[in-house]
Amino acid sequence: MRTAEIRSRFLDFFAERGHTAVPSTPLPTPDPTLLFVNAGMVPFKPYLTGEAAPPWPRAASVQKCVRTLDIEEVGRTTRHGSFFQMNGNFSFGDYFKERAITLAWELSVTSPGDGGYGLDPDRIWVTVHHDDAEARGLWRRLTGLPEERIVARGDEDNFWSMGVPGPCGPSSEMFYDRGPVYGRGGGPDADEDRFMEFWNLVFMQYERGEGAGKTGYPILGELPHRNIDTGMGLERMATLLQGVDNLYETDETRPVLDRAAALAGVRYAAHPDIPEQAENDVRLRVVADHVRTALMLLADGTTPGNEGRGYVLRRILRRAVRSMRLLGHQDPALPELLPLARDCMSPSYPDVAASFDRIADQAYAEEEAFRSTLRQGTTILDTAVREVKAAGGHALPGAQAFLLHDTYGFPVDLTLEMAAEQGVEVDREGFAALMREQRERARADARARKSGAVVDTSALRSVLDRHGTTDWRARETLTTDSRVLALLGPGGPQPVARTGEIVTVVLDTTPFYAESGGQESDAGRISGTFVEADVLDVQRPLPGLVAHQVQVTGGELAQGDTVHAAVDPEWRLGARQAHSGTHILHAALREVLGPTALQSGSYNRPGYLRLDFPWRGGLSATARTEIEDAANRALRRDLPVGERWMTLPEAKEIGALALFDETYGELVRVVEIGGAWSRELCGGTHVDHASQVGVVALTSEASVGSGMRRLEAAVGVEGFGHLARERDLVTRVAEQLQAPRAELPARIGTLLERLKATDRENQRLRQQAAQARAAQLAAGARESGGTLVVTAEERGGADEARRLATEVRERLPRDRPALVAVGATTEDARAVLVVTVNKPAQDAGTSAAYLVKHLLSGRGGGSPETAQGGGVAPEALPQLLADVPGLVAGGLIPPA
Ligand code: ALA
Repeated sequence: MRTAEIRSRFLDFFAERGHTAVPSTPLPTPDPTLLFVNAGMVPFKPYLTGEAAPPWPRAASVQKCVRTLDIEEVGRTTRHGSFFQMNGNFSFGDYFKERAITLAWELSVTSPGDGGYGLDPDRIWVTVHHDDAEARGLWRRLTGLPEERIVARGDEDNFWSMGVPGPCGPSSEMFYDRGPVYGRGGGPDADEDRFMEFWNLVFMQYERGEGAGKTGYPILGELPHRNIDTGMGLERMATLLQGVDNLYETDETRPVLDRAAALAGVRYAAHPDIPEQAENDVRLRVVADHVRTALMLLADGTTPGNEGRGYVLRRILRRAVRSMRLLGHQDPALPELLPLARDCMSPSYPDVAASFDRIADQAYAEEEAFRSTLRQGTTILDTAVREVKAAGGHALPGAQAFLLHDTYGFPVDLTLEMAAEQGVEVDREGFAALMREQRERARADARARKSGAVVDTSALRSVLDRHGTTDWRARETLTTDSRVLALLGPGGPQPVARTGEIVTVVLDTTPFYAESGGQESDAGRISGTFVEADVLDVQRPLPGLVAHQVQVTGGELAQGDTVHAAVDPEWRLGARQAHSGTHILHAALREVLGPTALQSGSYNRPGYLRLDFPWRGGLSATARTEIEDAANRALRRDLPVGERWMTLPEAKEIGALALFDETYGELVRVVEIGGAWSRELCGGTHVDHASQVGVVALTSEASVGSGMRRLEAAVGVEGFGHLARERDLVTRVAEQLQAPRAELPARIGTLLERLKATDRENQRLRQQAAQARAAQLAAGARESGGTLVVTAEERGGADEARRLATEVRERLPRDRPALVAVGATTEDARAVLVVTVNKPAQDAGTSAAYLVKHLLSGRGGGSPETAQGGGVAPEALPQLLADVPGLVAGGLIPPA
């Protein structure tokens, strides 16, 4: 039976039984809690809750649905489709359980000739909620189902809600036994592949509130009426009636799957036992599923984009294109596949055919854009691979993979694959390190902005009041599946955060360590099917409430989303090493310096730690080495690290150090390293035993204010990195000095000695030379108008010129007027003029200052005895000096 036929039979069957057939609403829904309609009842929600009066007491529909939470499952199981159609019959306060069961049974088992589906009643199983004896009794009485084919299940399976506040109730599901080839016997509890669920009957009678998961929410009360909401999976019924293996092989998707296989030149389901071929089968099913989903979303007016619904569509289209590529098909795929999907769907949805030109334009343009991203990336990748090979290497540098990812939006898994095809690996660690650095920069930015981005605590307080404290799992796990309870932006609570936005997020449960006790907050990511976000900072702004500052890096994060919260495991390992390293260094410090060296503050993050302690004066090199040794001895002894919970008095009793003015609850946590060797009250995350710290390498010891010292250390890989850098430094020095490493200190000592001796010798020679020059100049003094005059042109600065001028003056006779003028040109080509005059000349009225000012047009000055100036070009000096004797002879005397 074709899918379109199953569909119309359903509507006919229920119309004949007093139901109004209601057309499917478009996939994008105005319901703010959803992106797309994800169940048949969504359009009827107001009638179910009593919010609006239903126009009819009974209705039936075949509703288009999109569910993307399980998108990774698509193609891997037999029964998850991202697009599906849900056939439903609804009663709004009209009939209830009895009639619902009768109708579902009747349609299922009535022969095809009489308008039914003709399922074999002996192969039908049902489940009921374990508290619902009524439903069990009804199945027995109305259908004659034997007791053993009625299975009781709990809330997880048999209590249905939309996942958000709204109507809900116990449910009863129908399963069909597909026979032993599909798996083990024993009913749905044994194998849900063999026993395929095809119809869910929900007895809607309650209203639920906010909460996470399938069970973590309160029941707020009864609905005004008792309703019926059922969902029969159209694709699942088609799978059963068409006798195919899974829903991707039914008549509405199989043609796309076959065409994809033909294009790629692969055979579908030929060797499911060979892993590579099985992977190809999954890809073909993904293509079949996604092409149809994209078609239906485009038909309903969603367009590809970077946010919300558009992002969902974009990812689905890209996944389809990428799957084709992985199958080996490099050419545009959608023009080949989309028309087939249209032909499959238009019997039930004529509008798909009518608007196909627009749909195709949008889909093909999106494929082209993605292909051009891939092309651009591929060119860069190929060039890089060639370079690696030419250089005789075999791994693409992480920086290259990062560039492709960061600048060209080229997915890293694609880089890995394409590099592998060319026989080259990718330096994954390097790539991961760059990704970490990028996140680090974002974290640093966020920290810098922190004061500006502080969220109003009253908004957080109301989140706390509504949802209670955060289920904090940092010490047990690195990942949790969490629900987004609230998003807070600068303007207060907001329903969604888009790509690029930085918001504060509260989750119901979290694996992230919030900054406290000196330990930096965890780095990591929050992701959902259509959102990626980096965790920038984690704080505990109110007792018991953990707030994450995150930046959405892709898609959209919405309140109510179920997300995967994951601490970066590398980061956490580093954080544990650093925090344990801090305790160890503290204990080592006290071992060496005694108990007064009590830590007064500390900070640690992966690779780095520091601790402050009161101490007078700096530590000697010996003390520093002893402390470092004591710490590394603890590592070598591999002291066990453990936690104990006790009351504060008990903790004090056993000597645990309570370092901060924290208000501890009833029981406190004592972290011990080597038992009594190190005991501190601490809430942080630690390694399991000391050797995991790797190494403690002191990097600095310095004063931080009066009587307070700070020790800094590198630990773990960074500790080794620090030591390696020091070693490289020594190697370089040894090479430069061409001396064995052990002889370096002696060699450097000798060199310094030699340098000092040379300096002394230099100075002596310079002085000697200067004196010889002074003597020479003095000997050449000329008389000019009764004054002995010496002029000289030298190289050098003002100090040297002045020293020389003085030296010459001292060598001239003291009993008659004398004047010395020295012009000098500095290394950077500036001119200096120094004039000095002896006592008899001054007595005769000659002034050095006056002469300098006169010569330099005012650009200089000094005393009557000595003056200097500059500001002229060096080329002017000879003429200035040549003018001096004439000026002196002319009796250049300042006016009185
Ligand atoms: N609303 C119910 C479901 O989606 C029928 O399974």
